Amino acid sequence: MQITLETKPYATLETDALVSYLFEDSDPVQGRIAEIDQSANGLLRKLSKSGELTGKSLEMTLVHAPAGLKAARLLLVGAGKRDKFEGATLRKIAGAASRYLKARSVKQFAFLVREGEVTEDAAQVIAEGALTANFESDKYKTDKKNDKSIDTVLLAGYSDKERASGEKGLSRGRVIADAQNFARDLVNEPANKLTPKILAEKAEAMAKEAGLAVEILDEKKIADLKMGALLSVAQGGPEPPRVMVVTYTPANLKPGAPVIGLIGKAVTFDTGGISIKPADGMEKMKYDMAGGATMLGVMRALAALKPNVKVICVVPSTENMVGGKAQKPGDIQTAMSGKTIEVLNTDAEGRLILADGITYIKQLGATHLVDAATLTGAIVVALSNVNVGVFGSDQPWTDQLLASAKAAGEKMWQMPMDDEYREFIKGSFADIQNIGSGKGGGAITGAWFIREFAGDSPWIHLDIAGTAWNDDAKPWLAKGPTGVALRTLVNLVMSY
Ligand code: BES
Ligand code: MN
Ligand code: ZN
Repeated sequence: MQITLETKPYATLETDALVSYLFEDSDPVQGRIAEIDQSANGLLRKLSKSGELTGKSLEMTLVHAPAGLKAARLLLVGAGKRDKFEGATLRKIAGAASRYLKARSVKQFAFLVREGEVTEDAAQVIAEGALTANFESDKYKTDKKNDKSIDTVLLAGYSDKERASGEKGLSRGRVIADAQNFARDLVNEPANKLTPKILAEKAEAMAKEAGLAVEILDEKKIADLKMGALLSVAQGGPEPPRVMVVTYTPANLKPGAPVIGLIGKAVTFDTGGISIKPADGMEKMKYDMAGGATMLGVMRALAALKPNVKVICVVPSTENMVGGKAQKPGDIQTAMSGKTIEVLNTDAEGRLILADGITYIKQLGATHLVDAATLTGAIVVALSNVNVGVFGSDQPWTDQLLASAKAAGEKMWQMPMDDEYREFIKGSFADIQNIGSGKGGGAITGAWFIREFAGDSPWIHLDIAGTAWNDDAKPWLAKGPTGVALRTLVNLVMSY
């Protein structure tokens, strides 16, 4: 899909559809919408009076052959109450309009930004909304005859004077949305098409194309580094583990400057191991590599956006399988850090591979850490599919992330990390155990386990188990992988 700026008057655009939005006000027909209403002989006001056009959030009103416009259709999207309107609303409007139109076989539309909102940020979120809305998880469908997709979007409402800021916003939006779709593509792959080895090849190809430094650690290197926690998960199946290391270095890096470390869980399939999961819904565990995919997507975007801070990304990857060689409940493993771990439940494998990922990224020089992982079912119980669970060891660092989440329009909620919870994972026969001792708080004990390896480094853990996958399509996003947390993390790094 192409999205470009078009400064010609919107009424003269020969497009399949002109899209704009209106507010849930006593009179939703104002400003540019009132202008359109006038050239359409009062049609919109009539619809508003009759109660058909209200401006309610994501209400769709489609008018064919609107008088006074060269466009074949006019689509008006409800924007909800004006005082609640923000970037996230505009992103959803652009996405929902895209999906509404493509379902009706429209290939091309113009999006008219409202008066007073013609900014760089508006262009960015419209590009993000439209491009992420166009993504479908249909790669493996051979019958593409019902294939519907938007080819071209024109961004309208910008004057020649406003062109430069619009173009800037569009190009940033394109980079971020393409990176998000790149991550979603990886998450969408089934486990037979995406083993740790294949994921590493894709990461390497992405990094080379983007101009990022990349190193892939194979099973031999992983053993040399004594990553015992990662190896304990990998030993259950025939596919060897991989650790991807992707690095972005800014042009004038000052010695001693902080280095951001991003760690992503990439379990390409999680059966649970010997503590096996129930059959029902197990197919979804192909998305247990979403944290890793997000981090790779973040690096892809950073390569183009060029922040002023060095960023290292470490993605440990393995399958979690059952087999004669699989680790057993009660096994004691030694992590790369030297800490011993009692594996009470082989299904709590994400924290094991993150433990070694964190030890390694600290060794590489990362000072400020963020991990993302589909870590626990408990976070789904706590926050459902609405909020990402945020856990942090350092409030200023965590506050920066929460501010970025707000700016990027991703819902995230900070969870408690009281010392009391740490007691739950004290080991009986080793330093720590990989599950809590049966007192609830499963998402928090999971976070505490990871924190033990972060030590004193400011660290944030994002539990995306509930938010990385849409079970149902949203008006602005297809069913399947969401690419959640990518925009927040790009914002965090860019504003560091
Ligand atoms: N990958 C799962 C977590 C998960 C659950 C992701 C639901 C997406 C949706 C993780 O490895 C896991 O199995 N966690 C266990 C931990 C438990 C054994 C302490 C869980 O949440 O049940
Ligand atoms: Mn598991
Ligand atoms: Zn898992």
